[in-house]
Order: sequence, then structure tokens, then C-alpha cells
Amino acid sequence: LLVDASEALSQKIPETLFGIFFEEINHAGAGGIWAELVSNRGFEAGGPNTPSNIDPWSIIGDESSLIVSTERSSCFERNKVALRMEVLCDSEGTSICPAGGVGIYNPGFWGMNIEQGKTYKVVLYVRSLESIDVSVSLTDSNGSQTLATANIIAAASDVSDWTKAEVLLEAKASNPNSRLQLTTTRKGVIWFDQVSAMPLDTYMGHGFHNGLVEMLADLKPRFVRFPGGCFVEGEWLRNAFRWKETIGSWEERPGHFGDVWKYWTDDGLGYFEFLQLAEDLGAFPIWVFNNGISHNDQVSTSSILPFIQEALDGIEFARGDRDSKWGSIRAAMGHPEPFDLRYVAIGNEDCGKHYYRGNYLRFYDAIKRAYPDIQIISNCDGSSHQLDHPADFYDFHIYTSANNMFSMAHRFDHTSRNGPKAFVSEYAVTGKDAGAGSLLAALAEAGFLIGLERNSDVVEMASYAPLFVNANDKRWNPDAIVFNSSQLYGTPSYWMQQFFRESSGATLLNSTLQMNSSTSIIASAITWQNAEDNRDYLRIKIVNFGSNTVNLKISVAGLESNSIQLSGSTKTVLTSSNVMDENSFKEPKKVVPIKSLFENAGEDMDVVLSPRSFTSFDMLI
Ligand code: AHR
Repeated sequence: LLVDASEALSQKIPETLFGIFFEEINHAGAGGIWAELVSNRGFEAGGPNTPSNIDPWSIIGDESSLIVSTERSSCFERNKVALRMEVLCDSEGTSICPAGGVGIYNPGFWGMNIEQGKTYKVVLYVRSLESIDVSVSLTDSNGSQTLATANIIAAASDVSDWTKAEVLLEAKASNPNSRLQLTTTRKGVIWFDQVSAMPLDTYMGHGFHNGLVEMLADLKPRFVRFPGGCFVEGEWLRNAFRWKETIGSWEERPGHFGDVWKYWTDDGLGYFEFLQLAEDLGAFPIWVFNNGISHNDQVSTSSILPFIQEALDGIEFARGDRDSKWGSIRAAMGHPEPFDLRYVAIGNEDCGKHYYRGNYLRFYDAIKRAYPDIQIISNCDGSSHQLDHPADFYDFHIYTSANNMFSMAHRFDHTSRNGPKAFVSEYAVTGKDAGAGSLLAALAEAGFLIGLERNSDVVEMASYAPLFVNANDKRWNPDAIVFNSSQLYGTPSYWMQQFFRESSGATLLNSTLQMNSSTSIIASAITWQNAEDNRDYLRIKIVNFGSNTVNLKISVAGLESNSIQLSGSTKTVLTSSNVMDENSFKEPKKVVPIKSLFENAGEDMDVVLSPRSFTSFDMLI
């Protein structure tokens, strides 16, 4: 492998090359990165009409001790359903309540992870015409062990109207399969609505799950594309993600049923929170909005104006000043400064749809007129022919076998350099090569990404998909990060992405493989300055996709002589004994990068590449 570091042959990689795509799929958000523990907190998931199903809430007690029903009597206009609980038993008299009381419980998203010593804030809305004494408790899965408890005691006059109550619960034991209980031993009728339980300690205090978002931060993503995917489109427009329904105080959000991935979200993770997440990760937000097209219905171009206004308002919400109509709502939500929204995508995978082009042009013109600097992403692939409409970027999605993915490294070699830039916003190996996240898939994707680095004069952004899966609701396979209430691990495809986290904004060096049969080897070389120690590094990444060991000579030219330093040079390898090896909750680190000292660092180095491996040689220069 010949690496030439001379300036004339080098090129700057875009600052935004590698980022992430977050979609609300597989309970990635609700029951995932959004740290809310209660599922269906406003009792709305069963639909707006009553009587309505309150799943996953369940009842503690039998018909002789309480009657639970739903009513449209909430104080919140956009989510009217509230829970009515008529308690028939008492602490004294003829009908004595069972020990522990009667009431309701919520198991969260397949069990709440409650950790000893941590504090949880429970907020709920309550109403009653009698005095109340309600125990708010975190317990094990059948209510027999109490992990934390507090009582809400109030006179009738204090709760005769809807009243907000708040308690802090400090857990005295841990249990990954806990539930939240609201119980009483006092006769009477109590209404509940909007019940939330959140850990006090969340990522940057913004409500995100620490462990899951730390996995994202470790990728150093330069952009966050959100909130989907098909989630943006919906099977039907009435179920699509519409940003205005997801902002403001959490109690007022109606929530919605995402009909593509088939689950309800309370929309605690709304448009504002997505923008906040991007900011917290030091990444640019890339907002994908619905352009009047779902999987099964479409708004015609002549009627598209309200959708255009919605998109313009969404941009104003993100970046308008605090005196603007929508900017002032953002400011009231705690973010007076604008978010750095520079990119929007008009729809998702809608290019072939009847009204796409017509609608697209209307959105494009209106957005460019109001915000000339906003970069617009089209759903139509411009990699092999010119687009018939203006765009700054075009979306490119690829889900395929391992061999195909590896050969896709050359997909952009012949793309025109004059048109819009490519945004590879979804890529992954799928099907049997992927298992549930195999080494094979990761190696093929690594080869593909090396190809994107080498074509980064025309490919400006790339992100894996999907990012997360809650193991209890796997709607798509594979995914980069797997979790349940208390455990998480990265698949090899997750770890593979870490090899690229210094690439965005780095310098790509000219590198040439001189081998007889090099079809299973692909390599790239970059230099960059590390912000932590202010030192310059050279990284050579090589995928050996074949099943033989490869002995390779690497020569580096174009650097000042003796500038490659032996001390501090490292070699990081992602491989395993079987190419179909995966990580799991049992063996979360079976296939992870292993770092060691690189003792051959220098201008001429002999290296050995294990079969089916991805290696990064990092040298101080
Ligand atoms: O990543 C999963 C799905 O794949 C996305 O929702 C969609 O854009 C694509 O078809």
C-alpha cells in the first residue's frame, strides 16, 4: 500500500461526513433514549373515545374493591382521556381494602429499571371530591417488594379541581423489572391523568437516557438525522409525525400511534428534544419532515400549502429569534438561543410517489425564499444521473448483502462531481449475512465507508440505520445498539463506526493498493489534529474482507523524514474467530475493537492483516 501525504494529492474530508440517523423505530425513543419510565402516561394510547383500553396500565384489586374506567374529563384540551378510579373498600368498616391498598400500576416499557440510591421524580395530575391519601411506589414486578414510596395526602378542597402533585422517590434497592403503583386504602372516587416518572439524572439534564446517549456521544457524530424514516411518513398521513403536536409542555402533548412501526408514543421525545439531542452531541440537526406523502395517501400539489407552512414554522421554531412567533415558543421551552438547523429533508423515500416532484418544488421554493442558506435534501437518487430538480443533497439508501455492500465502496467513483452532494442517510447489511448484527456485516460496511471517504468530494454525509432496538420490540433487523431496561451493547456495526469518528474534517491522503488480487482489500489514510492533545495523527484503515491472512507492506511518502513516531502508535483490530460472530446481552464484548501497541510504525512497515478483519494503524506524526 502506497500512501502519499503530499499536500497536492490530499483532500479535505467534509466536516459532516459521519453522523447518525435516529428513527423512532423498535422503541428507540419511547422506552429507549427518552428516559420517561411510564408508558401511556396520559391514558391516551387506547384512542380518544371512552371506554378506552389503558394498556399497559393494570389494576390492583378486584371488582369488589374498585372500579376503574376512562372518561373524557382531563384538564388538558388536546388529550382529554383521564382515568377514574372508584374505590369501594376502606381502611375500616365492613369492606376493608387488602393490605397495600387497591389502585393501578404501570410496568413501563417491559419493566422499569430502578437503581438503588437513585432518585426518581413522579409527577401526576389528580382530582377528587373527597380527601385523598395515595401511595406512590416503585415496586418489583408483582408489587411484593417496595423499592421506594411516598404519599400524596390532600384535603378535598385542595384537589377538587385538577391538581399537579410531585414526589421524589429514592430507591433503596435495585430491580430492572420494576413498576410504578398508585394505591390507596381510602373509599371514594379519584381521577388521575398525565402520570410521569423520570430518573433525576439524565444526559445533560435534558431527559435522555445516560447510557444510550453516551453510546452515541462515543461515535462523535457530526449530524443527527431525525425523526425517521418511515416514522415521518406513516402508513397513513393521519398517523405521521407532525412536529406541532410534539412541542410545549409534556402534559399537553396528544401523543400518537406510529402506524408503520406499530406502537404508541407519548411524544415526550418531540421536535424540541430532537434538536436538543443534536446540540448536546455537538452535531448538526437534520430534520426530515413530511411533505404531504405517506405510504398509502398523498396530498396533491394544489393542496400542499398547509404542509409548506408547517415546514416553514418548524424552521422558525428551530432558528427564529425569540421574538418570532415560533421562536418564542422554543424560548419558553427553555432554549432562547436558536438551534443550528442548516439542513432539512423533504420527505423520506418518496421520490417515486405521484406528487413528490410537484410538492418538492413548492417546498423547495418556499424554503429557499425564506431561508436561502438552508440546505435541502431530495429523496431522489442523483448518483447515476442528474436530478431533474434543484437540490443541495440527494438521499441515498442502501440495504443489501455483505458482498454487495463491500463492492458498493466504488458506487460513487463515477458519480458526476458537478451536481448536488450525496447523503447516504441509511446504509446497512441486511438479510442472512447480517445475522442479528454480525462481524461479516460490519466488515462489509467498513469497506463501504472507506469507499465513501475516498469519494468524500461528492459524498458529504453518511449514517447507519437503524440505530437502536429495544430487544422487546424488534421491528427491524439488524440495528447498531441493542438494549432492554437495564442492559445494552453495540453490534459489530456499531463498533466499526468508531473507526471513522476522527474522519469528519480530516485530510484524506492519496493511497494506492499495489496487489495482484486486491479485490478483498480496501484501505484509506487520513491525517488529523487531535483536539485533546493538539497533536497530529496519521491513521491507515484497512479491511481484509477475504478469508486469508494478508502480509502487506505499507510505505508512506510525502511526510517530513522520520516524522512517524514509534512511541504512542497503536493498532486497533475488529475481528473474531467466526465471521458470523455477534455480540449479545450475555457476551456484549465478543466482537469489539482490540487496541495494542503498533511496533512497526515507520515510513516502511510490514503488517499482517488477519482474515476477515478491520484494522486501524494510528501513528503520531
Ligand atoms: O431504517 C429502517 C427503514 O428503512 C426506514 O424507516 C426507511 O427510511 C427505510 O425503508
